[in-house]
Amino acid sequence: MNLKEKIDRTKMPRHIAIIMDGNGRWAQKKGNQRIFGHKNGVKAVQEVVEGAGEVGVEYLTLYAFSTENWGRPKLEIDALMTLLVSTINSETETLLKNNVRLLTIGNTSGLPNNVQQNLKEIIEKTSKNTGLTLILALNYSARWEILNAVKTIVTDSKKSTFNIDDIDSEYFEKHLNTSGIPDPDLLIRTSGEYRISNFLVWQIAYTELYFTQVLWPDFRKNDLFDAIIDFQNRERRFGKTSDQLKDR
Ligand code: IPE
Ligand code: IPE
Ligand code: MG
Repeated sequence: MNLKEKIDRTKMPRHIAIIMDGNGRWAQKKGNQRIFGHKNGVKAVQEVVEGAGEVGVEYLTLYAFSTENWGRPKLEIDALMTLLVSTINSETETLLKNNVRLLTIGNTSGLPNNVQQNLKEIIEKTSKNTGLTLILALNYSARWEILNAVKTIVTDSKKSTFNIDDIDSEYFEKHLNTSGIPDPDLLIRTSGEYRISNFLVWQIAYTELYFTQVLWPDFRKNDLFDAIIDFQNRERRFGKTSDQLKDR
């Protein structure tokens, strides 16, 4: 039985988020420039998008560029932005064919104009698609997102009709970039790093975490399926006892 067949379709994670890490190290191990790793990471993106679609994942969020990544050398940033635009252009047809809808989270207004324009076009073109929702986190920072939500809520609170007790989790979430998207069930980080790096801090409160040594450019469908199978063998208790869950 292949890995894909081992996946229980009745226990699917609805939303998988991935911190795609290790491109630079992958390239350097091969004696190449870091950007060579980013270029080869595109294959892994294609694999997870396809793989997620095949097994019926509804939402896939990929951490592509963090706000902190602006601190990298200009040459690397420019190469990443160029790669982003060329990948959007080369993948548009495949996304349309595979019924994938593209969204972004993060401060996209801080991205170069040509990147913004390309994103806008592909988001519009894929907006009617009903299959997998692919969410790219670009110029994303969880703290920025949370602070932004607070600012909007404080502004709204100046209106006389505002009642402070209306601020509950549900209300707060409506002010995040991920409004309307269910929280990730599974978060994968590649390359053997065990940290969150300012990704989806609010949303992962009860997410299952999965870490793998695989460097991102080597990540393939089977690695995704391995993570899903691992997830399916876990018991999500949400604070309850194991017995309570069995009694249901
Ligand atoms: C992840 O790979 C891609 C981005 C952050 C854009 P890295 O570039 O962080 O690769 P390592 O972690 O340095 O190996
Ligand atoms: C996280 O990876 C950001 C993305 C994958 C886009 P980093 O490589 O930037 O994270 P740190 O700096 O090692 O925590
Ligand atoms: Mg890294």
